[in-house]
Amino acid sequence: MLIGQKIEILDSTLREGEQTPGVSFSIDQKIVMANRLDTFGVDFIELGHPAVSPDVYEAVQSLNNLDLKAKKMAHGRASKSDINDVAAIGVEWMGIFFGTSPLSLKHKFNVTKKEALQRIETVVKYGKDKGLKLRFTAEDASRTDLDYLIQVGQLVQQSGADRFSLADTVGCLTPTKMQKLVRQMVSELDIPIHVHCHNDFGMATANSLSALEAGAQCVDVAVNGLGERCGLPPLAEVVIALTNIYKVNGNWNLGMIPELTKMVDSFSKLVSNANQPIVGKNAFTHKAGLHVKAVVEEPKSYEAISPESLNRERHFAIDKFTGKSALKNRLVKMGVKIQNQRLKAILLEIKMHPEKVIWDDDSLISLLKSMGIKS
Ligand code: COA
Ligand code: ZN
Repeated sequence: MLIGQKIEILDSTLREGEQTPGVSFSIDQKIVMANRLDTFGVDFIELGHPAVSPDVYEAVQSLNNLDLKAKKMAHGRASKSDINDVAAIGVEWMGIFFGTSPLSLKHKFNVTKKEALQRIETVVKYGKDKGLKLRFTAEDASRTDLDYLIQVGQLVQQSGADRFSLADTVGCLTPTKMQKLVRQMVSELDIPIHVHCHNDFGMATANSLSALEAGAQCVDVAVNGLGERCGLPPLAEVVIALTNIYKVNGNWNLGMIPELTKMVDSFSKLVSNANQPIVGKNAFTHKAGLHVKAVVEEPKSYEAISPESLNRERHFAIDKFTGKSALKNRLVKMGVKIQNQRLKAILLEIKMHPEKVIWDDDSLISLLKSMGIKS
């Protein structure tokens, strides 16, 4: 499954990532991120939506001058003025979005289905006349009537769009529903299908992978899962699942994942959760004695992903859950030789202090000293 299938990753950290509450990147930061994402090996980089503000306009101009392997895409509404911005800056690709669900048609645009189709056709043709490569996104596709969505897809394809993107704008699809939707759209259209999944129910990664299984070609991600509300699928989760579970060889520079995470943590001033898959502080830290014992013998016992493949290190936490083997392992690493009898006594001391959750080397040495044990 997926091996041999064309798979593309679109990184939206610079565009939707900046829609995260509390986040605003400087142009210099965007340039650094774009260069590192390009080295990592994403296929598309969304540069931004020029109409948002003067600084975003300027950033899109500067980013467009970078020499990148990734395809550059600017974002904009289904309006001539947004298309004019992108064409004036000279970005090769433009992602045009328009809400197609009954909610969007009624409350955002106050148009009939027919009027919306006319508007969509006009802008896609206008963008193509300007020489742009176009991805058309049906915003809120997951809450759009299927027949209408197919009509929209066929219309944008006939009007010259190069890609059709399905946005699960409020993240309400399940992997099964996503699979059904993408299968249907792939069978109706010849142009490649993209998906843009939001994480409101924590299913953005699962839904994106499910879309790829159903034949979608490209998924949108953001470093650390940034984006509106609960964000997009995190780049690390999608790429590592593709590599490790689906055995896809995407030529991604996986060892850069910790660096990308740190960089975006620092630029966004948001810190990833400790238990975040792959990039979180705890992702490769084992705690319970039985786990540590098994991992010392064979890391795969409790690791689906090898930390070394990501330039990360394995850690063993010492606290009341620690067993003999885990403690011995730590003391040996510290260069402390200890008899089994003593080991039990030290362990008992540790277990008598449930409030102490971090036993680092210094605190273990202090404990040994207090027990009269030479270290
Ligand atoms: N296509 C065409 N027009 C759209 C549109 C779409 N997809 N979505 C909204 N609009 C129109 C609105 O109908 C409104 O039109 P009006 O001026 O004729 O009433 C206009 O865009 C929005 O106006 P306003 O709210 O005043 O915003 P603004 O002109 O100051 O621009 C934005 C601000 C819209 C560029 C920006 O800050 C924004 O919301 N960013 C993009 C968000 C986004 O990309 N969401 C989708 C993907 S996650
Ligand atoms: Zn979005």
